[in-house]
Amino acid sequence: MKRKAIVTGITGQDGAYLSKFLLEKGYEVYGVVRRSSHFGVADHRLRWLGINNDINVIDGNLSDLSSLIRAVAQVKPDEVYNLAAQSFVASSWQQPVLTANITAVGVANMLEAVRIAAPEARFYQASSSEMFGKIQEAAQSETTPFYPRSPYAVAKLYGHWITVNYRESFNMHASSGILFNHESPLRGIEFVTRKVTDAVARIKLGLAMELKLGNIDAKRDWGHAKDYVVAMWMMLQQDQADDYVIATGRTTTVRDMCRIAFTHVGLTMDDYLSIDPNLFRPAEVDILLGNPEKARKTLGWEPSTTLEEMITEMVDADLARLTAK
Ligand code: GDD
Repeated sequence: MKRKAIVTGITGQDGAYLSKFLLEKGYEVYGVVRRSSHFGVADHRLRWLGINNDINVIDGNLSDLSSLIRAVAQVKPDEVYNLAAQSFVASSWQQPVLTANITAVGVANMLEAVRIAAPEARFYQASSSEMFGKIQEAAQSETTPFYPRSPYAVAKLYGHWITVNYRESFNMHASSGILFNHESPLRGIEFVTRKVTDAVARIKLGLAMELKLGNIDAKRDWGHAKDYVVAMWMMLQQDQADDYVIATGRTTTVRDMCRIAFTHVGLTMDDYLSIDPNLFRPAEVDILLGNPEKARKTLGWEPSTTLEEMITEMVDADLARLTAK
């Protein structure tokens, strides 16, 4: 019998890479997809990876508990990966209530659906390094206190703790992956790495003249999404559910990440980059640096891509995309 996995957020970057990985492992993959009048557009990442025809799509929404119960009852999954969220930090100040409904309460809905319809299924919650926010320790691990700095991070904190609570209350195999920033050519254009690599490709091709950014002094611990989805799966293969920080252990400023992209195509960053005060956030997470020691020791997980390799891959993919157009 093939193992079955439900993935929420399957049309996102991580959902797409995780699905490809699970399909290669022989799983039947079911994606909970919220109804939209243009799914043909929303599944572009699955098409890019060539797996759009291999996914079983189920109509459902994280804010609609009965749709989730129906999905879980129908599939009877072995594993559930809850990746769906309102995941853009900057938008969470504009839509704090929607962010809470999906990114926080949505997790409780998904956990309830699993508890009711497939309590033996293993559950993965996509938690976030944003929960560390105003950092309380130089390198953040599973034991570092949280200090969220955005409505998004506050919502993620609820999702994290409700997952821990269901594990402790109902003995569910529920794990929380505290993932630091992870990027790829499939990253949404609103996030800073992809905004940069897309702009650099446009400037190189003569399609744009400048790049406007906000706080380029912010530091992030950036890894490759393809590496990080493997860690999600590894967590669910353990006998005991637990929480894990997934990170590279290296932090870099937005400025230096941006410089890597410009240098790759032979351009000088300072000739094109300007600062737009409107892009600063009401409260910022100045620096994130993860300590992935526990994942290394317990899961045997290691990141395999450097920031330089990833940014150059992303610039090349954007150059190819724009040239094809
Ligand atoms: N998006 C964006 N656009 N960010 C900018 C810009 C800009 O023009 N200029 C500077 N930045 C800075 C932001 O202020 C932030 O400090 C940093 O670049 C990274 O921003 P994002 O790429 O939007 O990611 P994030 O760190 O806020 O959140 C991402 O990572 C989290 C994990 O730590 C998202 O993927 C979250 O969903 C995820 O949980």
